[in-house]
Formats: sequence, structure tokens, C-alpha cells
Amino acid sequence: MKKIKLGVFPGDGIGQDVMNAVLPIFDILKLNDFDLIEGQIGWECWKENGDPIPQETWDIIRESDACLLGAITSKPLEEAERELRQELQGQNIKYVSPVIQLRQKLNLFANVRPVFDLSNEKKYNFVIIRENTEGLYSGLDFLNIPFSIQEEIHKNPKWAKTNLNSAACTIRLQTKEGLLRLFNFAFSYAQEHNYRKVTFADKPNVMRESGLFAKKILEEVSSQYPDIKHEILNIDAIALWLVKRPEQFQVIVAENMFGDILSDLGAGIMGGLGLAPSANIGYDYAYFEPVHGSAPSYVGFNKANPIAMFQTVALMLKHFDFYKEALFLEKCIQDVISENRHLTPDLGGTATTTELSGEILTRLRKYI
Ligand code: IPM
Ligand code: MN
Repeated sequence: MKKIKLGVFPGDGIGQDVMNAVLPIFDILKLNDFDLIEGQIGWECWKENGDPIPQETWDIIRESDACLLGAITSKPLEEAERELRQELQGQNIKYVSPVIQLRQKLNLFANVRPVFDLSNEKKYNFVIIRENTEGLYSGLDFLNIPFSIQEEIHKNPKWAKTNLNSAACTIRLQTKEGLLRLFNFAFSYAQEHNYRKVTFADKPNVMRESGLFAKKILEEVSSQYPDIKHEILNIDAIALWLVKRPEQFQVIVAENMFGDILSDLGAGIMGGLGLAPSANIGYDYAYFEPVHGSAPSYVGFNKANPIAMFQTVALMLKHFDFYKEALFLEKCIQDVISENRHLTPDLGGTATTTELSGEILTRLRKYI
């Protein structure tokens, strides 16, 4: 079998801790089909080079099939500029989060974020499929609104007299191609994973035109999946129902920013960001990362929860059809959580990152 080349990029903050915690999995499960290639990404690279993804890392990406990411620090424009190496300051070099660069430049249009009950109740099990390349993340975010756009805005009577030189605006661009591939992905994901319903999280009662546009495309795609139901719900109502009755959801599909917000809510339902994994998938590349960030205040304390990273490796293994290994890994994670003895502080325990991951790895060693 041809080897699977996997970039391994720990990134910032606790990224290194959680990546170290999971790397032994490859030896323990004898995953010899994977070739791991380590690389740099993140804040240090930004400070040094003015780009959080150095060329060598792009080279690794180009020659690999997928990559595994630990965590990434992301800061607003001015803060990012201030931390840049002295010689690079004042040159109008703009920070673009490396995860956004990866998603957009590699066309990883589907961000898959499963949310499942890790308690013994097993009450809910759904997945958020977030559009990953356009919508409110299209990069059409203007501090100085271009004249042509100002003209367009002024045509609307409500804004006709507004001084748009003191205004900012963001455009939520959604293309037919983008929505088609997103909805197709969501329905075929539902089919493959035995889900029976796709819920589109939108806001068509306010964003009427773009809501209608998306609805038509959703209906076009859904007609090819007669066995799978679909519904369009307002994003705010979904937020409420996710808290009250998460078991009513199966596949939730959403525009980029809506999906971003809902997936943090999803992580909260699971018990915190320390538990939630994600996969960013395109037609010919994929990257896998925990939903959490780099948690700078946890650095150096060996207390970050590595479970999200373990779950992320399980997602990655399933993506490459290592189902048996992935399911065993998930069982080991579940057993450690159910035992309730070796949990990190975010889950109410006192275990360190090393202790918790050690517990999972010990169980994993029983794999045959
Ligand atoms: C996520 C993160 C990113 C996002 C940030 C770090 C740019 O919040 O992956 O959910 O907004 O997509
Ligand atoms: Mn987010």
C-alpha cells in the first residue's frame, strides 16, 4: 500500500502538549502506513517572517495527503502587527490566521465538527458541517468601504444619507458552487453515517435574499437524497434547542460564521472545548485539528485536556479508512472518561495532560 504522508504541525501554546500526547498512537497501533513529517506553523513564524505558514511548511503540505494541527494563536490586526519583528513593522503586512489560509488556499470547504455525548447517557450524537471558505469569512471586510460599494449602499433609502466614509462593512458572500458542494457534502455525509435529517442553520427571516438563494440550492441537492429529510431553522432557534434538546439534531449544516459559533456551543454541550475534534475536508486534501485554541494561560502547567486531540486523531483515522483502530481509540477515550478518575481540571479532575493521555495510551496498548 502507498504510504499516507501526514504533516504534523503542533503550532502554538498547548498545541505542542496535546500533539506530544497523541503521537505515540502511531507506534502503539502499528500504523506503519503513515509517514509523519513535522513542520512549523503559527505565531512564532508570524513574528519572525510575517507569515504564520513558512514556505517549508507549504512544501510539506504540497507533498502530503493531510496534516494534523495542534493549536493556533490568533490575534486582531493591531496586536498582530505590534508583535511582528521590528524590521517587518510598518510594511502593511497583514496577519491572516493560518487555519483560514489552509482552508481557503487548499479549498477545504467542509469543516466537520461532531458533537457526541461522552457521558454514559448517550443522549445526543450530531455533527455540525460548517462551510469553510466563504460566507462571512470571505475576506471582504472593509475598514474603508470602497467607493463602488458605497454607491450601492447609498441606493438603499435607509442608507441614502449616511456618511459611509465613517463606516465599516463585511460582505457575506455565498456562491452557488460553494453552497452546492457544501450541501452535497452534508447529505452524503448523512447517508454514509446513517443520519436521517439535515438541518440548515440560517436566518432567512432577516437575510431574505441570500436565505432564499441558499434555500433553492438546498432543495435542489436534497431532491437527490429522498431518504434524508431536511429543514431550515433560524440559527438563534437552533442555539436555544441545542441547549434544551440536543438529541433532536443529526446533521447541522451552516454558513462559515454561523457554523463557527454553533460549533463552540456544541463543544460546550459536550463538556468543553477540551473534548471537541474537527476535520477540514476538501476534494484533495484534509487537515485535522481540535476545535480549541492555543490556551496561552495553560502553557507550562501540563494541564491541557488532550482528549480533543485524541478524538481528532480518531477522525483522521476514519478519514483514511482505519476504522477498526479509530473505534478502539474512541473506546479507550470513552473508558477513561467513564472511569472518572484521571481527568484534567477543565473536567473537574486533577490529572495532568501526561497522566490523562498515559491512561488512554495504556488501554490502547491492549489493541490486537
Ligand atoms: C475555529 C477558530 C477559527 C475560526 C479562528 C482561530 C480563526 O475559531 O476553528 O473555529 O474562526 O474559524
Ligand atoms: Mn471557532
